[in-house]
Amino acid sequence: MAKAEDLVRETVKRIVPYSPGKSSAEVMQELGIEEVIKLASNENPLGPSPLAVRAMQQAASGANIYPDPQCVELTEALADMLEVPPETIVVGRGSDEVIHMLGLAFVGEGERIVYADPPFALYPYTARLMAAEEAAVPHRDCRHDLDAMAEAVDERTKLLFISNPYNPFGSILTADELGAFMDRIPDTCIVVFDEAYFEYVDDPAYPDTLEYVRDGTRCAVLRTFSKAHALAGLRIGYGIAPEDISAALKQVREPFNVGAVAQAAALASLHDPDQVPRSVANNRAGREYLQQQFEELGLEFVPTQANFVFVNVRMDSVECFDALMRRGVTVRTGEIFGLPTWIRVTIGTPEQNRTFIAALGEVLAERR
Ligand SMILES: Cc1ncc(COP(=O)(O)O)c(C=O)c1O
Repeated sequence: MAKAEDLVRETVKRIVPYSPGKSSAEVMQELGIEEVIKLASNENPLGPSPLAVRAMQQAASGANIYPDPQCVELTEALADMLEVPPETIVVGRGSDEVIHMLGLAFVGEGERIVYADPPFALYPYTARLMAAEEAAVPHRDCRHDLDAMAEAVDERTKLLFISNPYNPFGSILTADELGAFMDRIPDTCIVVFDEAYFEYVDDPAYPDTLEYVRDGTRCAVLRTFSKAHALAGLRIGYGIAPEDISAALKQVREPFNVGAVAQAAALASLHDPDQVPRSVANNRAGREYLQQQFEELGLEFVPTQANFVFVNVRMDSVECFDALMRRGVTVRTGEIFGLPTWIRVTIGTPEQNRTFIAALGEVLAERR
């Protein structure tokens, strides 16, 4: 009998499966500890809005009925809030799915996708799925190297991804930097502004990329309910793009791609005036605390505009990860991003941040 691996498309063999790291349950069982603080996946430590929780409970009893395939209510609420036409909005199972739709709709075999290296995992995944060519442009000092990225765009380039803030570093590109960059990009290439963390940004130089959508520039803006809205477990996000682009995304979207519970929760969360400010305030206080602690510990870090901090622990990041895990805290190792003495830590609650700093202090002291 033919082996499945001989039947698999060549391009699929190049896909590296997403590595989620150990789950809290696995760590607890392995180490016999009762609590694990997970600061590894940039989740929101405060949890969803109570209004969203109530909406989920109500929607649950209607689970026998297929969801609204067009997410009409949510789309209209987003369009109102963002002051864009509803036709420009495409809702997905997380912004991950919108990235996938961009690949399906626009990228043919041998065409090119440009992104900064290290990338968010979905960019190379999408390129490989579509049998596209990848231009991975090395970061420069933990920021996008926009000159090199513009140079990497050729006539076959269909998508160029910009994660702003840049995961895993937390740095941002300013409106002026992006403006100059956009002038250099041909209109055969769609620039994707991946703004999963935009709510956390407080730097006034951050761009309003919806202006590009409004004036019809070839682009797509990606946002999510996974971060400030704390609904990562439901998988819901959205893209905003000029109508011709969003129409193409809707053509490749699966019918019923977003579940009814997720739609109801996202809508309720949008209508909760406290959800985002509460998340942002916790994040801002945690960001100041962690950055100040890193300074006191003499550790270099990338000043962050997101809900995580990238810090140089000056030891092997996998060893640091193991030592922190034994103390009940998980983070992301920098070695997966090509920086083997750095870690990425998600900003938690004040108590979680203090526990992490105490654990890190012990780990670093042990090394001396
Ligand atoms: C840069 C970036 N883009 C997109 C996403 C995906 O978010 P979602 O949960 O909406 O799929 C993440 C999630 O961590 C991210 O870091």
